[in-house]
Amino acid sequence: MRGDYMRDDIARILLTEEMIQKRVKELGEQLSKDYAECGDDVMLVCILKGAVMFFSDLARAVSIPLQIDFMGISSYGNEQKTSGIVRITKDIDASITGKHVIIAEDIMDSGLTLKHLTKLLSSRNPASLKTCCLLDKPKRRECDITPDYYGFVIPNEFVVGYGLDYMGIYRNLPFVGVLKPSVYSE
Ligand code: IMP
Ligand code: MG
Repeated sequence: MRGDYMRDDIARILLTEEMIQKRVKELGEQLSKDYAECGDDVMLVCILKGAVMFFSDLARAVSIPLQIDFMGISSYGNEQKTSGIVRITKDIDASITGKHVIIAEDIMDSGLTLKHLTKLLSSRNPASLKTCCLLDKPKRRECDITPDYYGFVIPNEFVVGYGLDYMGIYRNLPFVGVLKPSVYSE
C-alpha cells in the first residue's frame, strides 16, 4: 500500500513522537522563562520548510506573548550535503530591529546555513538574536557555531521526518528516523 512505503523506508526510529513532544514542551518552557522580561518584542522565526513542524509545536509551548514570522531559505537542493550557499527565497515580513529574535531551525549540520543567517539578521540590529534547533549534529560542524537552544544531539546519520526531508519527501512523518541506505542507491 502506498501509505506504508514511507515507513518502510525507515531503517530505525531515532526519536519517537512522544520523545519529540516532551522535549519541545521543555524548550517552550525554557524560552518562556528566559524571555519573560522582554514584553511584546519576542519573535520566533521559522526557517522554511524544514522547521515548520518544530516551529508550530514550539510556538504553542511558549506561554509568553510571541510574534511569529517566516523565512524561506534553500541551501541543500535535493542533495544530502550542504553547498554552503544560502539563497533567500522568502524574507521575514516584519522589521526585526529592536526585537528579541529566536530562529527556529530543524537541524544544525555543517552550521554554514545558520552562520550565514545569523550574520545577515544581526546586521538588522535586533535587540538579541538566538538560535533554537530541534537537532544538532556537532560531528559535522564546519564552522564555529553552536545552537543556543537545541532539542537533541544526534549521531552523524541522515535523518528524516518531523519536517526533515529527503528529496522533498518524509516531512510529514511524526517521528525522526534514519533512512535505509537502499533509498539513496535506488
Ligand atoms: P547546514 O548548513 O549544513 O547546517 O545544513 C542545515 C540544513 O541542511 C538543514 O536545515 C536541513 O535542511 C539540511 N540537513 C542537514 N542534515 C540533514 C539530515 O540529516 N536530514 C535532512 N536534512 C538535513
Ligand atoms: Mg532546512
